Amino acid sequence: MMVLEILHYPDPRLREVSKPVTAFDQKLHRLLDDLHETMLAARGIGIAAPQVGEKVRAFIIDLGLQEGFPKERYEFINPELSQLTGKASFEEGCLSVPGIGEPVNRSEMVLVTYQDRFGHRQELRAEGLLAVAIQHEHDHLDGILFIDRLGVIQKQLVKRRLGKQIDL
Ligand code: CO
Repeated sequence: MMVLEILHYPDPRLREVSKPVTAFDQKLHRLLDDLHETMLAARGIGIAAPQVGEKVRAFIIDLGLQEGFPKERYEFINPELSQLTGKASFEEGCLSVPGIGEPVNRSEMVLVTYQDRFGHRQELRAEGLLAVAIQHEHDHLDGILFIDRLGVIQKQLVKRRLGKQIDL
């Protein structure tokens, strides 16, 4: 397994829409394993393939580093979100936007249908932090970052803190 380089905002590759995974092969498995290694090395709780420059619809979540959550590795390939209900707001950060943490308004519950690493169809009903992490990572597959979802005042603060050309 390898720790991969994480792309940082405002890298334009973070803005691209990723393509569905079609081959559930060794190459995909290696990518998923490397993503997990990369996420743990960076002390994150989620990471999406486009964050390491792989334009495919896959992401990993492991809330284990968050206090009170079990270490459990989730792999979502070709995920579709539905039945988004309720409201939740957690302070979010992103391995591609280092140093920024802001609360984001999301849905409290989500149904995610997806494929596992072998291509088998699965579904998971998630709530709370796991549901929020799924929404955050799913956004990456469509080129959306959590800072896009902030309010006007929050965006101004982030712009000031990032202190560089940003497209918020
Ligand atoms: Co992120």
